[in-house]
Amino acid sequence: MTKPVSPPDRTEAQQGEASDLFSKFDPMIELREGLLASGVKDPFSLVMERVISPTVAICNGRETILLGTYNYMGMTFDPDVIAAGKDALDRFGSGTTGSRVLNGTYIGHRQVEEALCEFYAMNQAMVFSTGYQANLGIIGTIAGKGDYVLLDIDSHASIWDGCKMGDAEVVPFKHNDIEAMEKRLRRIPEGAGKLVVLEGVYSMLGDIAPLKEMVGIAKAYGAMVLVDEAHSMGFIGPNGRGVAEDQGVLDQVDFIIGTFSKSVGTVGGFCVSNHPKFEIMRLVCRPYVFTASLPPSVVATAATSIRKLMQSSDKRDHLWGNSRTLHARLKLLGFQLGTENPQSAIISVVMPDLEHGAAMWEALLDEGLYVNLARPPATPAGMTLLRCSLCAEHSAEQVETIVGMFHRAGSKTGIIE
Ligand SMILES: Cc1ncc(COP(=O)(O)O)c(C=O)c1O
Repeated sequence: MTKPVSPPDRTEAQQGEASDLFSKFDPMIELREGLLASGVKDPFSLVMERVISPTVAICNGRETILLGTYNYMGMTFDPDVIAAGKDALDRFGSGTTGSRVLNGTYIGHRQVEEALCEFYAMNQAMVFSTGYQANLGIIGTIAGKGDYVLLDIDSHASIWDGCKMGDAEVVPFKHNDIEAMEKRLRRIPEGAGKLVVLEGVYSMLGDIAPLKEMVGIAKAYGAMVLVDEAHSMGFIGPNGRGVAEDQGVLDQVDFIIGTFSKSVGTVGGFCVSNHPKFEIMRLVCRPYVFTASLPPSVVATAATSIRKLMQSSDKRDHLWGNSRTLHARLKLLGFQLGTENPQSAIISVVMPDLEHGAAMWEALLDEGLYVNLARPPATPAGMTLLRCSLCAEHSAEQVETIVGMFHRAGSKTGIIE
């Protein structure tokens, strides 16, 4: 038997003093308490009591227009999508209770992977239980110790966490800065494994990446390229394949990561690729192997939704119209926006500080409008943002109503004159 290890020597004052692992959260607790003490509602605990459509819910007992759901294509209430989910629930039960590599691959998982291959015109697709896990799994598995991951400083948390999991050298570069990316690529030791990770649309400001230039440079330096198209799938590009398609570089991208939790209208994540050895990922990718697969109803809704998104050019046109109108009208009212021009279905309104942001968020909710309040560390450059995500199901009248709500709430809180 091995001898028990004695605890390190402690001073008399330390004896019996319990360490509280929660103390690291004290600054966050103080910030939250301070905000709530000022009388505003908690912007991070809103409850949707009923959801009526992709654009309307009942919150705090009143009808509220939804402008912060990332439900870009409004597929959550599509009758064919709902019917497919109900049918799968009846025929396959409520859950798989297993990993994809054991008892958790049903015919529906295969069918949704086939739908993804068709949607992206790629050879291979792998479905994860969330988009977060897709980034964690793919990045964390392919980029290991001794490899290099170059990534935009504004990358999503799941991309950063994937880098941590794989233990590769992480080399961040300034947001959307082509020169900065190239400079860092140049410095990577000869022969080292290199992965460049980019996003099509950056969700905080709603701006798009210059993928045409960045992907070309990354390839010229011999790097593999992964593009997260979470916020562009279904909407951007002639076939809704995303920014890489729109900028004509999809065939140079090694891995596209996406999610079912935005345009597809359910939950789940995926990676599509033409890499000839991609299939091995199913055995070596821990966030794929060591978790239960998506329920049959979810994969059935996702497959139906993806197939419908292939024929949704009218909806895409309408959504672009909504985005242009809202961007122009908010700008005209005097709000500072995250982008000079509308680049995606996300329009971010920059708030002077967290207090004003929270007050504006509440004033909009009182008007009957829900948007997302975002603050550091999720936001770039310490900004507080009111993020608006438009939906193809928002009518022109709803967009007009939203503009009026912003006008009144902005005047009330002193954010605009
Ligand atoms: C860029 C990006 N990647 C990945 C994800 C994770 O997606 P999911 O909600 O499916 O976990 C998100 C979600 O917000 C995202 O914005």
